[in-house]
Amino acid sequence: MRATTVGAGLAAMAMSAMAQVAPMQPPVTPPESTVHPEIWPSPKWPFPTDAATEKRIADLLKRMTVEEKVGQVIQADISAVTPADARKYHLGSILNGGNSAPGGDEFAPAQKWLELADAFYAASVDKSGGGVGIPIIWGTDAVHGHSNIVGATLFPHNIGLGAARDPDLIERIGAATAKEIRVTGMEWTFAPTITVPQDFRWGRAYEGYSSDPAIVSSYAGRMIKGLQGVPGQGTVLSGPHVIASTKHFIADGGTFEGRDQGDARISETELRDIHGAPYVPAIEAGVETVMTSFSSWNGVKIAGHPGLVTDVLKKRMNFGGFVVTDWNAHGQVAGCTNASCPQALLSGIDMYMAPDTWRDIYTSLLAQVKSGQVPMVRLDDAVARILRVKMRMGLFEAGKPSSRPLAGQYALLGAADHRAIAREAVRKSMVLLKNNGSILPIKAGANVLVAGDGADDIGRQSGGWTLTWQGTGVDNSKFPGATSIWKGIEAGVAATGGTATYSPDGSWRGKPDVAIVVFGETPYAEFQGDLKTLQLRPELRKPFETMQKLKAQGIPVVALMITGRPLFVNPALNAADAFVVAWLPGSEGAGVADVLLQRKDRRAAYDFTGKLPVAWPLTADARGPTLFKLGYGLSLADAPVAWKPLSEDPGVKDSDGGGTFLDRGSPVAPVSLYVTDGKADSTRISTMPATALGGKVQITATDHIVQEGARRFDVQQGPAVIELANLDPMDLTRETNGDVLLVMTVRRDSALTGPITLSLTGASGTATVPLGDAKKTPQGQWARVAVPLKCFASAGMAAVGKPFALTIGSGTFSLARVALGTDADVTVPCK
Ligand code: BGC
Ligand code: BGC
Repeated sequence: MRATTVGAGLAAMAMSAMAQVAPMQPPVTPPESTVHPEIWPSPKWPFPTDAATEKRIADLLKRMTVEEKVGQVIQADISAVTPADARKYHLGSILNGGNSAPGGDEFAPAQKWLELADAFYAASVDKSGGGVGIPIIWGTDAVHGHSNIVGATLFPHNIGLGAARDPDLIERIGAATAKEIRVTGMEWTFAPTITVPQDFRWGRAYEGYSSDPAIVSSYAGRMIKGLQGVPGQGTVLSGPHVIASTKHFIADGGTFEGRDQGDARISETELRDIHGAPYVPAIEAGVETVMTSFSSWNGVKIAGHPGLVTDVLKKRMNFGGFVVTDWNAHGQVAGCTNASCPQALLSGIDMYMAPDTWRDIYTSLLAQVKSGQVPMVRLDDAVARILRVKMRMGLFEAGKPSSRPLAGQYALLGAADHRAIAREAVRKSMVLLKNNGSILPIKAGANVLVAGDGADDIGRQSGGWTLTWQGTGVDNSKFPGATSIWKGIEAGVAATGGTATYSPDGSWRGKPDVAIVVFGETPYAEFQGDLKTLQLRPELRKPFETMQKLKAQGIPVVALMITGRPLFVNPALNAADAFVVAWLPGSEGAGVADVLLQRKDRRAAYDFTGKLPVAWPLTADARGPTLFKLGYGLSLADAPVAWKPLSEDPGVKDSDGGGTFLDRGSPVAPVSLYVTDGKADSTRISTMPATALGGKVQITATDHIVQEGARRFDVQQGPAVIELANLDPMDLTRETNGDVLLVMTVRRDSALTGPITLSLTGASGTATVPLGDAKKTPQGQWARVAVPLKCFASAGMAAVGKPFALTIGSGTFSLARVALGTDADVTVPCK
């Protein structure tokens, strides 16, 4: 078998360029990361070569300067680029990352998005300063509907769609999403995610349809068809379509221990058969772009893997669109930095997603091309691929975004027919795991209690990538036209003549006939959702007790789980009479009531048809035994199965705090709480009350949300340092690269003196941020005060031993929680 180690084709290309300077080689691939392209499938690319287009491309390439070519292969984020920059640097593309929006307002009205699209377009085609004026394209993460836009229809996240086993539905979702995107002027979505997650500790597992490549493959092509339309039947932009991007190529869902941006340590056949499979229908459907993964295969980052990107994807698999990297992923390629990475282009990447680093990449790449380190043929090839996509989609003829079909038709955002598709998808995604046969569907006219704090929270039921990157910090007011699970049940029950009451803690006055307890995960995206074990986070387990209490009161319980993945929830499975997995349903919560409730005529309106898209675990051990197999899912017609109580022992120790260092006043293992003088005197605080520094600091318990949910520090004579330390240093590099904050929930209880600072100690030392304004915060009021992790970057984030050290001269304050997060009341800027 012939092995291609260093992208033989590229090396040859580089030689033929006859550059003055020795051309830079793509990274040398170690044997375990070597591909054999001939063992990979060879799908048919549906767009034949078009002579006229090729002539047009060749003509443009002749007229473009090196500067214009370099600009064309760069994509910048709207938070870090202006239309004037786009014009000056001839940028080929822009994106809005999960936290970026017009004017920095994540809740900006749709008009603002369209106006910004017009502004960038106008800048890109403006030839007054020279240049050929190639129209720019805007990419957005419309991953479950046009999910960055207030009022858009939010479909269930992919994991829920995987339960529906309905490819036609997927195509309709794609088509509706494309229309909503076109309203706001963008022409490109970074979807569908066709990852095939194998380990559900991965915080992005919910972005995948299933752990079964066959299910993912049955959806991939249909989603692309819905988004892009049928190849050859009119251009994307003349119809109600956008271009798609399958991501993240390849094996983003196959990393060791499910770590985000991790390493897939698997064989080439596993890589091909599990993670490569959905790319076959995607290519056959003509997907115009592919986004490479942050992750690596056997140690080599994909964005720097010529064997996979060039030899397999482009050559063997005939992918004829262009390849874009993920967010600064080029910086993770061996030998690269965020500012310079010729290796990515040399490996076959055509466009750099360089959100805030575009200027550096522009400068370095320009120099590398001019010096001949990067051969012009490779740059020309990358530009040609981008131009080919832009021509095929009809961009050159489309005019400004607001002039194109559907643009500005704001009524299409959250249109009734789109919401109807989403509601249907919610219904079809519900999976019934347990049913004692006597409570579902809930009888017409019943008195229904709805409990659990997640029942009336549209942000929570929508998960990550919803208006904000992590989906945090959005209340119901940000979802006009949407329906929470509670509101759906309330309306559904009322329609049958029954009564429904919402009581988050499960308390009641008139005894209900049945209780629905809504529980599960809270939103996360990317690495914020990574887990060490398949446990539901400790602070989310309270509803188990609510279920047990209701049962003890003789009230039948339906457990309804909001989740992005299967988790160990045996206590809920045991306690409940019926157990339904709702996944992350999105904006149409009424779809849940559709399957839970009888109609007025005392018949079931819809039966449960959803089947598990992944296996459900028996313990919290990610490699442990299975409780329910992939494909499991009851229907109302099934005869009730007698329930054998499950062990409630998770089989693993509770994992780390997942970025929470102090919770309800107590340090979260393995972190400990100390009070020191910053020198030799240090006391570990474990019991309450406590004293430290020879009596100069008193520590007592105080209330926050729950009784004794915080610690009060009375510092009579400092300086005193309140410190959270971890014997086993943590790697916070990924969090630091993202926009993650160190958030403390604090209350000032008296006047504070002395310099007040927050420090973090990492591999290379301690970095300190002054918190001068802490003295002026309103006394007696709790606030979530945050410092961006990147302010501490100089401390060395790869091994953080002390994530938190608060220094104060004197005074009294209380601390309830210290955790990584993306949402705060006050964010202190870095100096
Ligand atoms: C994610 C991608 C996303 C991109 C742009 C990255 O961090 O991994 O899925 O498309 O950001 O927001
Ligand atoms: C952006 C996301 C991106 C992430 C990468 C965030 O700041 O908003 O879109 O995926 O950084 O770490």
